[in-house]
Amino acid sequence: KTIDSLGDLRGKRVLVRSDFNVPLDGTTITDDGRIRAALPTLKRLTDAGAKVVVTAHLGRPKGEPDAKYSLAPVAARLGELLGAPVTLAQDTVGESAKATVAALGDGEVALLENIRFDPRETSKVDAERESLAADLASLADAYVSDGFGVVHRKQASVYDIAKVLPSAVGELVLKEVDSLKKATEDPARPYVVVLGGSKVSDKLGVIANLLTKADRLLIGGGMVFTFLAAKGYSVGNSLLETDQIDTVKGYLADAEKAGVEIVLPTDILAADSFAADAPYEVVPADAIPDGKIGLDIGPESQKLFASKIVDAKTVVWNGPAGVFEFEAFSGGTRAVAQALVDATANGAFTIVGGGDSAAAVRILGFDEAGFSHISTGGGASLEFLEGKSLPGLAVLEA
Ligand code: 3PG
Repeated sequence: KTIDSLGDLRGKRVLVRSDFNVPLDGTTITDDGRIRAALPTLKRLTDAGAKVVVTAHLGRPKGEPDAKYSLAPVAARLGELLGAPVTLAQDTVGESAKATVAALGDGEVALLENIRFDPRETSKVDAERESLAADLASLADAYVSDGFGVVHRKQASVYDIAKVLPSAVGELVLKEVDSLKKATEDPARPYVVVLGGSKVSDKLGVIANLLTKADRLLIGGGMVFTFLAAKGYSVGNSLLETDQIDTVKGYLADAEKAGVEIVLPTDILAADSFAADAPYEVVPADAIPDGKIGLDIGPESQKLFASKIVDAKTVVWNGPAGVFEFEAFSGGTRAVAQALVDATANGAFTIVGGGDSAAAVRILGFDEAGFSHISTGGGASLEFLEGKSLPGLAVLEA
């Protein structure tokens, strides 16, 4: 059900779940992509004259108020982007929230404090989550689910609330689902997936699923060293999940059987330590010297990856190719981003998924318009690609 199904919203209180889990440096937001992505729904509701009440989380506080996780920086930034002040309630569903909602005029927006300050939000006990959902429902007449990054969580403000209020999907969730479906249902081929990020163990389900779907799988980032070790190569002191080596050997065998090409880097930037200014050298990927730490794919691998991406018709990229936060080790991630931009220009449908790679393209200065879709989902987009049922979406279809 879309927002249209909610009827005339003038003067109605609409609760919106957004994902404002943005990276912070102290109280400074380092990437506001998730806030900007929430604007189409919020503008649509304010234009319709609704009283908009937004609920969201930040980080993983321990179920009690914690100033470190306050949404205050988000309320300020959201107000700037909307061009109208956004009041931040001092609590989640308490007296301040009630007073803030009561004071809202038509077309105005308020934000409730971090919903994870309430332990019921993430409770595994249905009745506890339902009691928070009832409290949230008392603040609104309708609910719009727009926090795509949290739809994989069975939480009160994502899942239980949709059973209580008349509910609809927001613009962001619609756009995300539409884009990710293009990669999961009958993708145009060649279908190329680039995976990076630190851990293989975070991506087991998605790798197994992609081995039945993709034509090529390019592996970079910290997780590549477990692949290199599975091939019997020495990886020095690089990040290695020894308990996943056998699983990865199984993937390599499955890929060969399925005719899926697995592309691994051929050279690596191996550093003396994990530091922005660490001395480093380019070494062959099958012989990383003892004591050295691989922090990025090397120049030859950058060219190899680009050549495997540029002729694709569908590209999904999840996870940086190296430690892009350190300038010296950002080359691999830049090369992958540039290859996606080139593929898009060649007519491919390109998706950047995952909080880190989405932030990486913006932080490295790429124009968002160079990609077909930049997902706001981290875990949510991975679980979508895995083909899992996501509670926050399933509840809206019920
Ligand atoms: C994310 O950052 O991926 C979402 O906001 C979900 O956060 P969570 O992993 O803490 O549930």
